[in-house]
Parts: sequence; C-alpha cells; structure tokens
Amino acid sequence: MEKYALLEIIYLIGSVTFIIGLKMMGNARSARNGNLIAAAGMILAILGTLFLHENDVKIVVYALILSAIALGTIVGWMTAKRVQMTKMPELVSMFNGMGGACAALIGLMEYEHNAGSVGAMIAIVAGTVIGSISFSGSIIAFLKLNGTMNKPIRLPSYNIINTIVMISVFAFAGWIAYASSAEGGSLWASSVNGAELSQGSMLFIYLLFAVAIVYGILFTIPIGGADMPVVISLLNSFTGLAAAFGGFLYDNKIMLTGGILVGSAGTLLTLVMCKAMNRPLTNVIFGAFGGSTTSSTTEVKGAIKDASATDIAILMNYSKKVVIVPGYGLAVAQAQHVIHELEQLLEERGVEVKYAIHPVAGRMPGHMNVLLAESNVAYEKLVEMDDINPEFDQTDVVLVVGANDVVNPAAKTDPSSPIYGMPILEVDHAKHIIVNKRSMSAGYAGIDNLLFYDPKCSMFFGDAKKALTELVNELKNLD
Ligand code: TAP
Repeated sequence: MEKYALLEIIYLIGSVTFIIGLKMMGNARSARNGNLIAAAGMILAILGTLFLHENDVKIVVYALILSAIALGTIVGWMTAKRVQMTKMPELVSMFNGMGGACAALIGLMEYEHNAGSVGAMIAIVAGTVIGSISFSGSIIAFLKLNGTMNKPIRLPSYNIINTIVMISVFAFAGWIAYASSAEGGSLWASSVNGAELSQGSMLFIYLLFAVAIVYGILFTIPIGGADMPVVISLLNSFTGLAAAFGGFLYDNKIMLTGGILVGSAGTLLTLVMCKAMNRPLTNVIFGAFGGSTTSSTTEVKGAIKDASATDIAILMNYSKKVVIVPGYGLAVAQAQHVIHELEQLLEERGVEVKYAIHPVAGRMPGHMNVLLAESNVAYEKLVEMDDINPEFDQTDVVLVVGANDVVNPAAKTDPSSPIYGMPILEVDHAKHIIVNKRSMSAGYAGIDNLLFYDPKCSMFFGDAKKALTELVNELKNLD
C-alpha cells in the first residue's frame, strides 16, 4: 500500500478514537479508558506523521522532534501526576495556553510560504489570532487561579475599550489575509503570486500576533478569578478552533477532527456551565461577578443554631435516609476519604446514604464526581440535582459539607440576588439540615445564605476533614 494512503487510514483511525474517547468521557465509569483510547489514537497519528509524511527526513530533524516530544512528555507527565485536584483548573489553563501558542506559532511559520492563496491565508491569520488570544488569556487565567493576580483589573469603560481592540484585531487580520492573497497582492511591496513574502510584510504578521496577545490579556484581566473555569472552557474552545484552522491549512484530517471536537466540546461545556449558574455568557465576560461588587437585598434575620458532633451522630444513627451535599469546601479540606468512611458507617447501621450532586458544585465541571471517585464512592450513589430534588421530602438528614451557593434559597426567592434563577438543591425540604463549614463566610457568589437561619438547620462549624473525622469517631462510639 502506498504510504500516504496508509497515513490517511491512520488519521481516520485516530479521528475515530477521539470520538469514541470523548463519548466514553461522558460517564465516570468509562472516562479513564476513554482518555486512554483517545491518547492511543493521538500517539498513532504522531508516529504516522513522523515516519510516513515526508521522504528523506534528516536524522537531525528526527532527533530534534523526538527530543521535544520527550521533554514535553516528561514535563506534562510529572506536572499532571503531582497536581492536586483543587489545582486542576490551573493545570488545564496552562496546557490550554500551550495549545494556543502552538496554533499561533504554526501561523507565524507558515505565513511566508503561503502567499497568494486566499484559503491558506484565512486559515493562517485566523489560527494566529485565535491561538494568540487563547495563549495570553490562558496565562492570565492561570495567574488568577493560583492567586498571583487575585484582583480583577478594570480600566474605566473596559468593555468599550475591549470591544474596540477586538474589532481592530479582526479588521487588521482580515486586511492581512486579503493583502497576502493573489487578489490583494498589489497592496504589498513585493509580489505575492505564489512567491515568498518579503521581510517587510512579515512584520505585519508579527504585529498581528502581538496585538492578539494584548487583546487576550485585556479580555481576561477584568473577569473575576472565580469565573475563570468558564473562561478557561471558552479559551479551550478557541484553541480547538485555532487547531482546526491548522488542520485546514495542512489538509490534515486528524488535526481538523481534533480541533473541531475540542472547539465544540469547549463551547458546549461553556454553555452548560453558564446555564447551570443561570448566567448568560455575556454576563461572565462583561459582568463584574465574582469580584467584590456583588450585592443582594436579602436581609438576614434570626439566629443560627450550633450542633455538636455527638448530637449529629445520634441524629444520623436514628435516621432512615441521609443525603450528603458536597461542595467546594469538601475539595479544599480534602475530606473525600473521611466522608466515604462516614457513608460506610451509616450504611452498616442500615441508613440509606446518597450524595446530591449539583452541576456547578466546586470550581470545575464534574469536580464533586472526580473527588468522590478518588475515595471509591460508588457511582450509583451520586445522584444528579434533578433526580435528587424530589427525594428531599423523604430525607431525614441532609448533611451539607463545604457547599453554600448551590443550596442557597435566595436563588429561588430573591430576584435581586446575583444567583437568582440558578437551580439549587432543595435541601430545605428535608426534616433536618446540618451544614458543615468553618464560619459564616459567603461562598463564590459572595452572598449570605438564609438557609443557615432556617429553624430546621444546625451549623456544624470546623474544617470539613477535622469535623467529619470527629463525627465518624462519635458514630463509632455509639455501639
Ligand atoms: P461555594 O458557594 O463557593 O461555598 C463553598 C463554601 O465552602 C464556603 O462558603 C466556605 O465557607 C466553605 N469552605 C471552604 N473551605 C472549607 C473547609 N476547609 N471546610 C469546610 N468548609 C469550607 O461552593 P459551592 O456551593 O460548591 O458552589 C460552587 C460555586 O462556584 C457556585 O456559585 C458556582 O456557580 C461557582 N462556580 C462553579 C464552577 C463549576 S464548573 N463547578 C465554575 C465557576 C464557578 P467557610 O469559609 O465558612 O468555611
């Protein structure tokens, strides 16, 4: 078989593994294998490209490529192995930034060799602009998530400035694509009819790269740190799109498929996150949410009740059904193992235990699922919001651990609240509510929670890991 035909077949197999892998990632049980299948397809495609794409490749070129792959693999492997679950969004933003940078570099490299072709020029400038925005935006997102840049910087009228810069970048990109194509070739000093562009015209693509980098920074910098997961998912879809333009440029099917899959999955994830938070994407990008300016007219009235580990252990011991609501604080405290121990102890005593999973609990999609899977909680015990809400009426005790916004009734009752309209876990329907957190501090949305003042609610203050360990010990003493 001719080697290019073989390469096309390899690309086809690779593309199919991406689709199968992505499908399998939709379920916690098959996600790991899905990831491995897609990675195997990617390795196959890389090897195919290395050995079948070009003839007479110099040994030094192979040495350079393989060294780069080895270096990237070692750094990527070690970083991913060491990263804590709560730092995962940072890692994703950094990796995404690297993807964007690659797409932009492809544009910079290929620009001078593709003069005269409109299609190639569109792919090149689009890949350069989108990749650069994704690169610099992801680096800012990374710095915000790791706390280096923890205050949003908002210039006066930043939305207007950003919109003007964005329009200018795209207009400039369009002009470069036109001027470098055969039709607009007369705009350049040098001939572009299939010929290489002059050094002077190369300056324009570098300038485009620079202004797109600046726009990526301006775009991300005003957005509150807490909105970064949504921004990262959006930038991820940009990187996918930029890679797809690379696939178009090289007529490379697997790059095209991979880019389209990343682009569409990233876009869908962004929209799903926004829907679950009940906020339009424009509000995430142009709003000042997650900063210090959120307000609500909710008046907090009444007193709070305190419960001890002994009281809660007795209450749970005599319950028929307990629902645990995990939130961001569970991840911060790394209390996933002790919560699983609590669940097992209760089940041994004949108590039915389930976990109620809100789609945006924590700080990244599937955060609670991944965290609880780490401590081997059975998948079937994790119940999605829409399915668990009707069950709260028959629940004796709800134990809210490090969750706040996802159980805040203001989302249903207070139209002035920034979370108004967000679907919540209706824990106030249960007979008893226990809330574990360290203080009365607000969660991500920065607002008070009237649930804590509900007569059925008792606060169980303390770091989740410490408090739950105490509760587990009390339960063990109850025999
Ligand atoms: P939050 O509303 O952020 O509340 C977390 C609570 O955990 C805080 O009130 C905090 O109170 C407590 N906490 C922190 N450390 C703790 C510890 N060591 N032990 C015990 N408690 C601790 O969390 P949530 O209910 O999971 O809601 C998630 C929020 O993030 C939503 O508003 C959502 O829209 C937003 N968001 C989510 C995502 C995704 S994709 N998941 C993306 C972007 C934004 P104390 O300080 O008093 O302990």
